Amino acid sequence: MKTQIEINKPEPIPVSAEVQSYTNGNDVELTIEDLIQGKSVLINEFYNDGVSLLQEIHSYLNLKLPNKSFKEQQKYRSEYFKLSNLVLIEVVDQELCAKKAPSIGWLEKFYPENNHFFLTFPQVQGMNSAWQWYQNGISIPVLRNKIHPYYGTYFPTRFEHLEVFDNWLKRYKGPKKTAIDVGVGCGVLSFQMVQYGFQKVFATDTNPNSIVGLQEFMGTTKLSRKIELDAGHLFGKWGKQTELIVFNPPWLPKTHELGGIDKAIYYNEKLFPEFFAEAKKRLLPDGKLVVFFSNLAQITKVTNKHPIETELAEGGRFQLENCYKKSVRTASNKTKRDPHWRSLEEVELWVLNNN
Ligand SMILES: C[S@@+](CC[C@H](N)C(=O)[O-])C[C@H]1O[C@@H](n2cnc3c(N)ncnc32)[C@H](O)[C@@H]1O
Repeated sequence: MKTQIEINKPEPIPVSAEVQSYTNGNDVELTIEDLIQGKSVLINEFYNDGVSLLQEIHSYLNLKLPNKSFKEQQKYRSEYFKLSNLVLIEVVDQELCAKKAPSIGWLEKFYPENNHFFLTFPQVQGMNSAWQWYQNGISIPVLRNKIHPYYGTYFPTRFEHLEVFDNWLKRYKGPKKTAIDVGVGCGVLSFQMVQYGFQKVFATDTNPNSIVGLQEFMGTTKLSRKIELDAGHLFGKWGKQTELIVFNPPWLPKTHELGGIDKAIYYNEKLFPEFFAEAKKRLLPDGKLVVFFSNLAQITKVTNKHPIETELAEGGRFQLENCYKKSVRTASNKTKRDPHWRSLEEVELWVLNNN
């Protein structure tokens, strides 16, 4: 089935003659000064010149913002975002115009009729990594098959919460006719439920790329008859009651305007109250509501509020059956940038029943 959903992709920048170019060996300080003043810089000799310039921006910011606190890291990221997105690269006939540049399949998929434009270097790097992930696939410990995340979709890079869910599903004795997966992303939770015998999963996501990507991934296979998709907010068009509702929501409160994939990570204050109110209508009397969360916002001191605890204390809709917790393993190749709070991080799987 052809889809009409409009996906998120980098907006092509019209070609302009005034942009000056940067090659390795140019005066980096002057170039960074230009970027700070808001002037764009073009990479048109070697692709790697762009990679080096972005590294130079990192070095500059490391000196300017050396503090590793969570807040200062956010400031660092926002400055990096501003400067690095002034570094441009040209696209002609769906290829990047620089020597030794990677070939990125999204260019053909996303801009079949646009033959000449600029993209920012970070956008191109993002597309390049996303193309590698999409093509090679990613193995997830609890899933039989690799997932192939579509451009611009959230996919898990740590798996403790999936392991906790896997354990829970293993012991789950209730009916398995239908489930709802709110915010399906690349489909991992839906795939887990199907693996454990759920006959039908109704899934949603506000991110169109996630829906288009899963439609493409499932094609007309058996899986496409088990997982039905809707691009929509919270429950989308799924109104019927079900025995299981799962939601792996964003884990951090919103601190800035949200665009694209940020919605996988940051929630606004309306999300949880609305989610619980809508979930109440759709959960069968003996159904289970499974919500993932983590102590990330608390240990990084972004907030001391916990939206699920708030719901249990004030909502009057659900009661706690169990909350499973698991520490997040810190990466063995821990780098200096790895902040101290990482070792305190725990994922949580909240299982709630109707009141
Ligand atoms: C943390 S990710 C989880 C994705 C996937 N379920 C997983 O566990 O890997 C949260 C997902 O919820 C989606 N999302 C955020 N707000 C939403 C909303 N209001 N309605 C539906 N989906 C939403 C995001 O686009 C993202 O795909």
